[in-house]
Amino acid sequence: MKKIAALFFFVLPIQLLAQDQYILADLSALRSAGIAELVADEALNLGFARASLAQRAFLSRQSHAQGKCGSFEAFPELDNPSFAVASDMDLVDRIQRGIFRPLRLQHILSTRKPPVFNIMGLEPRDFIQDAVADVNPANIEATVRFLSGFAHRRAGRNGENEAILSFKALLEKTLEGAATVEEISHKSITQKSLRVRFEGAEKPQEIVVLGGHIDSTSYGAAPGADDNASGSSSLFEAIRILKALNLKHPRTIEVFFYGGEELGLLGSREIAAQYKKEKKDVVAALQLDMTLHPGSGKLKIATITDYTNASARQLLAELNTTYVGAGMMESKCGYGCSDHASWHRNGYAAAFPFEAKFSDSNDHIHTPNDVINEQSSFEHAAVFSKLALAFALEVANSEWRPATLAQLF
Ligand code: BES
Ligand code: ZN
Repeated sequence: MKKIAALFFFVLPIQLLAQDQYILADLSALRSAGIAELVADEALNLGFARASLAQRAFLSRQSHAQGKCGSFEAFPELDNPSFAVASDMDLVDRIQRGIFRPLRLQHILSTRKPPVFNIMGLEPRDFIQDAVADVNPANIEATVRFLSGFAHRRAGRNGENEAILSFKALLEKTLEGAATVEEISHKSITQKSLRVRFEGAEKPQEIVVLGGHIDSTSYGAAPGADDNASGSSSLFEAIRILKALNLKHPRTIEVFFYGGEELGLLGSREIAAQYKKEKKDVVAALQLDMTLHPGSGKLKIATITDYTNASARQLLAELNTTYVGAGMMESKCGYGCSDHASWHRNGYAAAFPFEAKFSDSNDHIHTPNDVINEQSSFEHAAVFSKLALAFALEVANSEWRPATLAQLF
């Protein structure tokens, strides 16, 4: 109790005093308070600035002395560390989409040049082109058949780890020691997750994550061909090619096969929380969940815009243009529908390319009918292996980071 009181009375005020905030205020008020603006709009007499507590207090006093009230609008959420990656960019995204409240700030931004996170004009790299060209739909088909051939992969049911352990053996055989394959145990479920790790040669602590859930669900048979043997198989093909490339990359590439997704993102939830707790530097996380059903048309895919990061989505879109050439539409789940949400909620930048617009996705999921059918397209699923390869290789071989608001100003 004493400790908590001390924390409250001593540490907290110092924290607050030290804290600068982003604010929007009258430009003339900022200038007469001696606060340098980061963005100025002379016509509107508006400035966006970073101000200390003392400066904010001064602004308030100055404005009250002039008989005005509210002298500035503060954006404390921009400094919340847990929002540092995901939500900063979400805010930028909302501003850009014109759905963020402070219209005046929106006006300022709309009159500026494109923000720096818009990194249009990615230089194509030969080894990424080679990797992408090596993707073979027939391999993806073989893996989907293998995984959907088990009676089920449902967490909590007898035999929940059978497919996973067989898949682990397949990974080990394919990788021949070129990457480590580990089982991850969980507290909330007895089903395992798997992690494949290609250790970075220069900055191994900087990690690019690829992932998809390996579990399935349905009462009765649960083949889960599309949901999500397909995403797992698209990832497996990417892993095969990463191994065959036999190249060292500066950053680490980790590929996850999450357990317990269908019970509430349980595997990825624990993993992402643990990574955050250990302050692991996950530069970005790409999710593959459902890649087989071309519901919006062949080679037409979606990029999910909720629970993802604008900067990571931008990179994904550019990689698609540069290396893949699929049609890409924006779509929303409307809720944390897959494991990308676990990374997002822990402050990491996620992206989620998806088989079709949400409304056009496969109706058979979560039933015994989620099997390979006439509509299944392994060429479609191959697009996602290509995107995963390009994403992992670009991030692992560059200095790319999701943009923060500080960069924008
Ligand atoms: N693959 C689905 C998510 C999905 C379904 C995305 C349809 C887009 C269209 C995923 O495996 C799933 O079933 N998620 C659950 C929610 C989760 C938190 C248990 C869902 O959508 O009901
Ligand atoms: Zn599902």
